[in-house]
Amino acid sequence: MQQQSRAWKKSGAKIAFVPTMGFLHAGHISLIERARKAAGRNGKVVVSIYVNPTQFAPNEDLKKYPRDLRRDKQLCQQAGVDALFVPANNQIYPPDFSTFVVEEKISKPMEGTSRPTHFRGVCTVVAKLFNIVLPDVAVFGAKDCQQAAVVQRMVRDLNFPLKIIIGATAREPDGLAMSSRNKYLTPDQRAQATVLHEALHEAAATVRNKPVAAKQLRAQILTHIRTRPQARVDYIEFFDPKTFEPVSTVKRGTQMALAVFFGKTRLIDNATL
Ligand code: PAF
Repeated sequence: MQQQSRAWKKSGAKIAFVPTMGFLHAGHISLIERARKAAGRNGKVVVSIYVNPTQFAPNEDLKKYPRDLRRDKQLCQQAGVDALFVPANNQIYPPDFSTFVVEEKISKPMEGTSRPTHFRGVCTVVAKLFNIVLPDVAVFGAKDCQQAAVVQRMVRDLNFPLKIIIGATAREPDGLAMSSRNKYLTPDQRAQATVLHEALHEAAATVRNKPVAAKQLRAQILTHIRTRPQARVDYIEFFDPKTFEPVSTVKRGTQMALAVFFGKTRLIDNATL
């Protein structure tokens, strides 16, 4: 992959990269389209598929994470991807692998509290993928807003010579954010899962005309989510979109993120209110 990227760069082609864990859906395709736009007609779009074990905790869904490489290949071909990079576990993590990348601030709250080793795994694999693919730009989805912010900080702090682009969240017609994990939901859970999107809308409507105390808004949103019997809230947070510092008063422009379990399936979503 690195040799191919070097050859492309030598010929003057710009490389746009979309890292994924596979089981591609319309959300990934929109990131690939965004990458094509950034690379230009003569540029190269690279997609990686790698279900990265270091970002899963032992109790998480690494083993059953959905995989369908044959279908992913077809989708990438249809989307005009120039190279699909699908490394094996022992190529990414040799048995004596011992170096990790840790971002120590933005990665702490929310996903970092619920999944304490998650971003160490994400930063490490993304840094490795950047060093292998040598992209000029890399595209990350807005659904994982904390991941995008952590990666942006890592790129700045460690001087990776590339630009990060954040692609908008793709949604199902009823508002549910697209995710490979939606596949785990039972029909009943799937119907109730629209509550994440509803919660974001309700919060935005509540603060449209006047600021509201975060505590009060959290309680209001919690009451709404509890109308769905299968939903179990992991977190609801209101924070500054640039610093990721929590705010005590929520107003227009505040970022909101939430994580909600349906059975063992954990869904996340976020919006700028
Ligand atoms: O967002 C994902 O799919 C993963 O966290 C990523 C960025 C591909 C790293 O494994």
